[in-house]
Amino acid sequence: MYFDNSATSFPKPECVYNAVMDYMKNVGASPGRGTYAKAEEANRLLYQTRKAAARLFGAPRPSNIVFTANSTEAINLVIKGILRQGDHVITTSCEHNAVWRPLKKLEQSLGIVVHTIPCSPDGSISVKDAESLLSPLVRLAVFVHSSNVIGSVFPVGELTEIARKHGVPVLVDASQTAGCVPIDVEELGVDYLAFTGHKGLMGPSGTGGLYIRDGLVLDTLKEGGTGSMAVSPFQPEDAPDRYEAGTINMAGLAGFKASLEFIDETGIEEISRHKQSLITRLMEGLESESDIIMYGPPSGVLRSGLLSLNIGGASPYDIAALLDKRYGIMTRAGLHCAPQAHRVLGTVETGTLRVSVGWFNTKQQIDTLVLALKEIAQELR
Ligand code: ALA
Repeated sequence: MYFDNSATSFPKPECVYNAVMDYMKNVGASPGRGTYAKAEEANRLLYQTRKAAARLFGAPRPSNIVFTANSTEAINLVIKGILRQGDHVITTSCEHNAVWRPLKKLEQSLGIVVHTIPCSPDGSISVKDAESLLSPLVRLAVFVHSSNVIGSVFPVGELTEIARKHGVPVLVDASQTAGCVPIDVEELGVDYLAFTGHKGLMGPSGTGGLYIRDGLVLDTLKEGGTGSMAVSPFQPEDAPDRYEAGTINMAGLAGFKASLEFIDETGIEEISRHKQSLITRLMEGLESESDIIMYGPPSGVLRSGLLSLNIGGASPYDIAALLDKRYGIMTRAGLHCAPQAHRVLGTVETGTLRVSVGWFNTKQQIDTLVLALKEIAQELR
């Protein structure tokens, strides 16, 4: 029983496996690099993937979507494409290392100044706190849509509204929310949205991307062949080519296209409802067990399909190992590459056990997990 969907979703919809195999066996060519029929087919496939991603996020044009290997690459592209010597940046106190490490690196190398909006252990942040940190020196606001440890969903629309008033562009890390809650970049007013294909979007690993609002241009993270304007010694100015140097992961993107179509057909609202109902069932099932400490927002509040917990003072690694060996239940224990979020929860020394649900998990599986966790808690007493 797989409950590590926040790390990567599993299983994938059947159509994803078929699409990867179909591309590998029957298309095979690189998009944008040939004039023969198979290369044209690869072009079409790539364009349709872009179109499907743009549609899911409410982006006006497929060219607003740039493909990257994962959200980490997309986040690095924006942070390093914008921030310069001495710039100020606003973020939250619960960022994943995908945001935190690039910022710390630039703090060291460029002397950027990082301001953090405090996140409470219940997963809330104050828009007023965010506003108090804005100044003319701030060049970028970057924050996670939902922490991969705490699980609450931040009020992106309110945060972007105040950032915009101060002329500060906003990058949102949607690693945990893409494919989990509906996202409309126009409605939310975000300038950049980083997403990964292999978590809630149910595509293959090695896929992901960045939404870039029309008219915004970033410095590049890498330069190289784009299949366009080859005579120029410089990267093209226009997205997406500007940011997609090198042969793209077409096999992965063929699978990603299939998973985006699966999500479109299933309905993102339906997926969101399903994951939320599983997490609510889990939390309600565990609340009678006083030794089980559940972190983040209370039951009923919107989450990105995950719950972090501990059982008394027991090591979450031991519990994860026991769940796996005795019950065949897979969870993730530790710091989840997000020590900042664990500092907020007060669990940076111990870590937590994280349960994260996906579209293919069922109520029956949640009930089995609840029984297993209760049994372990009673044994540990
Ligand atoms: N960030 C991923 C996780 O939460 C890897 O597990």
